[in-house]
Amino acid sequence: MRDVWRTSSGMFWPARRETRRPRAVLMACATLVLVACPAFAEVLPARARALEHMVLQDCGSCHGLTLKGGLGRPLTAEALANAEPEGLALIILDGIPGTAMPPWRPLMTEDEALWIANYLKEKE
Ligand code: HEC
Repeated sequence: MRDVWRTSSGMFWPARRETRRPRAVLMACATLVLVACPAFAEVLPARARALEHMVLQDCGSCHGLTLKGGLGRPLTAEALANAEPEGLALIILDGIPGTAMPPWRPLMTEDEALWIANYLKEKE
């Protein structure tokens, strides 16, 4: 689980991915995001809004529109208070085999799953 945190951090992107974009642009974006929102450093604001929408629409279809539970368990900050964000990110990425909880890996990166995990834990 710790590996997901380390390898999913934008800071540790493999060099080959960095070379595709000018380093200066990447650094400027990273700095902007870090300054704007330290807890969600890995996901840019526009993508964060899309993820938020996805959580309410797609996750909400099973977990309830207010995420207080439905077919799936509640995903409120209270219900997830004792859960590790890294563990939740793995559940989101790989689903829970044998249950209706599907894997979301095809639709998001590990950074984004971790963003959602933190979002769920910290939202009102
Ligand atoms: C098709 C229905 C469905 C959808 C869509 C769905 N889930 Fe789930 N989810 C479930 C079910 C059912 C469980 C409980 C499985 C079990 O019995 O352990 C679950 C469990 C979970 C858990 C574990 C909760 C806990 O207390 O351990 C998390 C976290 C979670 N879902 C997050 C998400 C997120 C984030 C999304 C959207 C990206 C999502 N789910 C979309 C059905 C769904």
